[in-house]
Amino acid sequence: MKRGDPDRRAMRKQYAALAARPPAPLDDAARGRAMDRGYSAEELEAVPESARASLGCGNPTALAGLREGETVLDLGCGTGLDVFLAARRVGPTGKVIGVDMTAEAVEKARAAAGGYPNVEFRVGPIEKLPVPDESVDVVLSNCVLNHCPDKAAAFREARRVLRPGGRLHVSDLVTLGDVPPADTPSLEVWAEWLRVAADRQTYLAAVREGGWREVAVLSEQAFSSPLTPPLLAGKVLSLHVRAIK
Ligand SMILES: C[S@@+](CC[C@H](N)C(=O)[O-])C[C@H]1O[C@@H](n2cnc3c(N)ncnc32)[C@H](O)[C@@H]1O
Repeated sequence: MKRGDPDRRAMRKQYAALAARPPAPLDDAARGRAMDRGYSAEELEAVPESARASLGCGNPTALAGLREGETVLDLGCGTGLDVFLAARRVGPTGKVIGVDMTAEAVEKARAAAGGYPNVEFRVGPIEKLPVPDESVDVVLSNCVLNHCPDKAAAFREARRVLRPGGRLHVSDLVTLGDVPPADTPSLEVWAEWLRVAADRQTYLAAVREGGWREVAVLSEQAFSSPLTPPLLAGKVLSLHVRAIK
């Protein structure tokens, strides 16, 4: 996404096209990738079929220690995989809200939410959340803030909606070492990512600048997907960051 593209048309188009794919059983490769990121076979079976394909880079619900009755917000929820999993963890006395700027993804998530009275999906940018101040206990996000040009502003906005003492659990991508220039033609959609991507140190500085304390990396691993171009092999890292308000 270009810094001069505040509507993020290119990114929306890409995620809208992914959301438009008809629900289909996960093939072995997609299931294997999801399980590498920490999702269990049981979890993948339990969620609606249209939400099974993870576009994330980690598994924030696994490390967030969600408890019965908590209110959870998932930033950039896509078609809702982590929202549905979090809903199972917080139970009928809890609530999970998913927010995403791609209306097509939110529509698909809403259409699958029939059996989940404790979930709600809203359309909006995570930099201006359609969520009141200090109204949630936990903020989750899976592979989303890496797309934001101003990450500190997005982390500040996430902090606004959290109750004091609440926690943030974010899985996200950062660059590792020297990366090719963003205008390298063969990078295609990853060129848009590279224009706003941060390395580990810069990313963690943005979390702190967003006002968070006790910022810790709970896990990190090399990231690749079938869509990662060869030029970025070994140059993308997935982090799981925890922080406290
Ligand atoms: C890589 S996908 C991850 C989707 C989902 N979290 C998952 O794990 O499958 C990134 C998602 O973030 C959304 N997104 C990116 N930037 C956003 C922003 N600034 N505000 C709201 N949603 C955003 C996109 O529409 C897309 O659905």
